[in-house]
Amino acid sequence: MGFSAVPRFFRVSSSATGNSASRFFRTRVPSRSVASCSLFFLLIAVFLFPACAFPQSSSARPSSDPVVNNPALTAPGLEQKVDALLGRMTLEEKIGQLVQYSAGQPTGPGTGRTGDNDMISKGEVGSLFNVTDAVKVNAFQKIAMEKSRLRIPLIFGLDVIHGFRTTFPIPLGLSATWDPSLVQQAARVAAREASAAGVRWAFSPMVDIARDARWGRMAEGSGEDPFLGSAMARAFVRGYQGERLDSPDSVAACPKHFVGYGAAEGGRDYNSAEISEHTLHQIYLPPFHAALDAGAVTLMSSFNALDGVPASANPFTLTDILRDEWGFRGFVVSDWSSIGELIPHGIANNGATAAKKAFLAGVDMDMVSNLYHENLLNLVRSGQIPESRIDEAVRRILRVKFALGLFDRPYTDESKESAAMLQPESIALARKAAEESFVLLKNSPDGGRPLLPLSSMLGTVALIGPAADDAGNMLGCWQGMGRAQDVITLKAALTEKLGADHLRYARGSGYLDGSDAEIAAAVEAAKQSDLAILALGENAPEMTGEAASRAHLDLPGHQEKLLEEVVATGKPVVLILFSGRPLTLPWAFEHVPAVLAAWFPGVQAGPALTDVLFGSANPSGRLTVSWPRSVGQEPLYYDSLNTGRPADGVDLNHPPENSREKFVSRYLDEPNSPQFPFGFGLSYTEFRYSKIELSTDSLDASLLASQLAAQLSSSAQKPNPILSVSADVTNTGNLAADEVVQLYIRLRGTSVALPVRALKGFQRISLGPGETRKITFHLGPDAFAFWNINNQYTVEPAHATVWIAPDSAHGQSASLVLTGPTN
Ligand code: NOJ
Repeated sequence: MGFSAVPRFFRVSSSATGNSASRFFRTRVPSRSVASCSLFFLLIAVFLFPACAFPQSSSARPSSDPVVNNPALTAPGLEQKVDALLGRMTLEEKIGQLVQYSAGQPTGPGTGRTGDNDMISKGEVGSLFNVTDAVKVNAFQKIAMEKSRLRIPLIFGLDVIHGFRTTFPIPLGLSATWDPSLVQQAARVAAREASAAGVRWAFSPMVDIARDARWGRMAEGSGEDPFLGSAMARAFVRGYQGERLDSPDSVAACPKHFVGYGAAEGGRDYNSAEISEHTLHQIYLPPFHAALDAGAVTLMSSFNALDGVPASANPFTLTDILRDEWGFRGFVVSDWSSIGELIPHGIANNGATAAKKAFLAGVDMDMVSNLYHENLLNLVRSGQIPESRIDEAVRRILRVKFALGLFDRPYTDESKESAAMLQPESIALARKAAEESFVLLKNSPDGGRPLLPLSSMLGTVALIGPAADDAGNMLGCWQGMGRAQDVITLKAALTEKLGADHLRYARGSGYLDGSDAEIAAAVEAAKQSDLAILALGENAPEMTGEAASRAHLDLPGHQEKLLEEVVATGKPVVLILFSGRPLTLPWAFEHVPAVLAAWFPGVQAGPALTDVLFGSANPSGRLTVSWPRSVGQEPLYYDSLNTGRPADGVDLNHPPENSREKFVSRYLDEPNSPQFPFGFGLSYTEFRYSKIELSTDSLDASLLASQLAAQLSSSAQKPNPILSVSADVTNTGNLAADEVVQLYIRLRGTSVALPVRALKGFQRISLGPGETRKITFHLGPDAFAFWNINNQYTVEPAHATVWIAPDSAHGQSASLVLTGPTN
């Protein structure tokens, strides 16, 4: 039966005072009865006691995120179709829907089996992935549609991460644009191309919060912040799934990896994560909730153990939160063999137990481990898994297949495939995305004016470094269907711009390999030129992405030596960093006049870089991760807690000389601050922030709490603003430019310690030379909401500071009070 109106509901706390143990005693009530009871209670509370509907000690308070809004899975008639089909399926056919294999290039170890045609014809496979062209997709689909008894189409998935054939900047670069609408357009391009090849399911977006640059998969996500991460998550999902999921050019999104994967201890991939329930709700879950609320119809469970429970067998996250609290109606696929990995994790001693634990926890589809195929039938027949649970998982998968229109249009039009790729407007978008993703980290004066932008009257340029002419590397860590031949490298673009006579190219070194002779040749090229551009960094496929954690974050191989020797020539040097993470380069930041973080920019790397180097585009990317000075600072993130002994007012640039300087939260040998803060990025112009104003300096916390509750319980997505904050932003330079205006909040006096700043808004604006504009943010009660000491999502009395800022370390601030009994 379908839910026409999406219910919203609240968790009923087990104790009046509440405590951190309450989750263990949470009353388990079927979601829909919780919904109706809570709604009734809420209405009484809001209408009878508007000013104190949810007093601090109440036992029934707004405590959970709203149920996710997913119209594609609640469409009228959908459940009837699903139930009708389900009623005709044998148990074997039902289990078949829960089985997925890789039928192409494996993207994980071991079990990438192929040759499953016989199983498909018996209805024993529900999905294939890594099949990348329409002819092959159609051939597999033909088996399902013509040979299997019930003709249930397969769903074809793929890691479409930052483009399909038109490769965009890596997701970390895309996030640095702070431009969700651009990201949405990029995802739309990816969806059009992927669907033309028969792929209707993208294993994307990766919405893992990453606070540790040692973790190679930082490259695949949107950085360290849950607010920005949520905005990007929504953008990806909307782009992939389009206006209508059943349109042939839409693909199902799959936010991943649920959950806590990015908190791997020590930044070592696949490692365990320990995350308190508070931090889980506050930091790690919001981008998943945002992605599902934007309509994502599937989700991928992760490899890691979370608080000792492997994420692909975790009923707390996969059932209590995802299904019971959020009401997610799509399906969960395990990550690659993560069900089999429950054995090495140590929570199963054989495949049958692994399958049972994963399934009962809430994993619907088994990616490649083969354990559902081998074990679910016996587990049901022996009474260890009720068939009704199998039915529920199959329903989730069929719902998505129907919603994608696969039953009506199982095949892909092969004749349209090639024309869909690399359309001129897609390439133009890739160039724009790359330009917006570059973050100018340093631009010091050289002979009186900043070194960048370069003059086109420049004499001769030495172009040096392993990334200068490496097309493959520009495609980043998930190259997908991207091809090196589609890439315009920096060398190609500079040759076009300056003419071959004005460019001296010398590789200088490889990423890891190299020789003194090669460095000497590069130094010679620099000496004979007016300026050197160094293109240095990481080798994307090997050093970034999955299984690419690093304990050292400096320039690998001989590149630091190359850099220092080129700088020693005395020629002006522009350093362009190609990396999937921030790199710790203290020497470079001290001695190189201009440094640009380019991430891995995609097919239009060269033209986009040339535009920015010569000023036809003004750099406007801003960091979405804090850039460390040294590895010892990791994990490093701006929204940290203050501690009881903050190092305020202490000069951290030298070792402590007295007890005031010593007994504070600090390093003896490194400042606490990052090299560059979250949100930071230079431009070829400068911006001045002034005149911050609040619409009020006092708000009633209980009123905000009740407004929040009303917001969560209604289907209205946009709350009425309760506070407006504005500031004047002036472009004080001579060039037009984009600025990313950021809004941060800090709350003091709350039941739990909250971050020194938390991002709650941002706007990317364009300002002409000398132009001033008043920028206004309209905040709802959710801007002041957080997970409190009872793990309930609410607003408490507090002293609030609000900044409108160019980054997380600066800005104009103003204060207000959220009034109530405890402040
Ligand atoms: C493992 C990765 O963790 C995941 O992100 C990816 O989607 C799957 N392999 C499938 O390739």
